[in-house]
Amino acid sequence: MSDIETLEPAAAEGAARKTLTEALLYLDGVTVTFDGFRALNALSFTIDPGEMRAIIGPNGAGKTTMMDVITGKTRPDKGDVFFDGGTTDLTKLDETQIVTLGIGRKFQKPTVFESHTVLDNLRLALKGQRRALPNIFRRETAAARERIDEIFETIKLTEHRGRLGGALSHGQKQWLEIGMLLAQDPRLLLVDEPVAGMTDAETAQTAELLREINANGHSVVVVEHDMTFVRDLGVRVLCLHEGSVLAEGTLDQVSANERVIEVYLGR
Ligand SMILES: Nc1ncnc2c1ncn2[C@@H]1O[C@H](COP(=O)(O)OP(=O)(O)OP(=O)(O)O)[C@@H](O)[C@H]1O
Ligand SMILES: [Mg+2]
Repeated sequence: MSDIETLEPAAAEGAARKTLTEALLYLDGVTVTFDGFRALNALSFTIDPGEMRAIIGPNGAGKTTMMDVITGKTRPDKGDVFFDGGTTDLTKLDETQIVTLGIGRKFQKPTVFESHTVLDNLRLALKGQRRALPNIFRRETAAARERIDEIFETIKLTEHRGRLGGALSHGQKQWLEIGMLLAQDPRLLLVDEPVAGMTDAETAQTAELLREINANGHSVVVVEHDMTFVRDLGVRVLCLHEGSVLAEGTLDQVSANERVIEVYLGR
């Protein structure tokens, strides 16, 4: 192990880094320390405009911490985090400003309003979106109704809109929450372990849903442990380990990497 445990990890095999001005999201040398423990260790990677990327890696690799840094929840000790071709330094903004910029995040547990209808959940998410819907219009505009219909089509909950949020299955709640994120029309969606606890059928539908969202022009970063799901996504994969990039490439390339097998897939 000793030759591997350098403080500044070498660039991972297969890494395809864009320049600052080409990248939608640009992380360079990002380090986060909690009480002397390096959760992120000189983490560097880029996401292209319009790209969907899957992020894998063992428990404690720093995947959620990476999302915390992008969304302004955690400040890095060191390193650069830029959005939109280097125009915006995310480390200088707070969480609300980052949401307003167009970075939406879905946490692992669904947080829909259980005692509101599915439709009202989505309405509330749209109302919270001041850019898209001027507050002076108290009544729902035709545009807002159209947008709601569109989102229900995408998340396949059209026929469930009258039910209470709490009556949905776990998978349906996750889709509703993804729909509520879409109401913000984010340029980049960060999704942490969306298929944990889902049935196989729900997992397959979630891959299809994220592919559709990505095809509609939203960039997506999705963290998952479920390799069937990651295969269904059919996108480039980044494997994190001990807070840095261990390998990057297609799922086949990454899963053939000896160190990835050693620290993650082979367990
Ligand atoms: N607020 C915090 N304070 C102290 N330690 C933390 C904090 N947040 C994360 N850590 C530690 O940082 C490391 C990385 O955690 P992180 O949650 O980012 O891992 P992960 O890759 O998301 O893992 P998992 O696959 O289990 O979700 C872990 O060792 C974790 O215990
Ligand atoms: Mg996590």
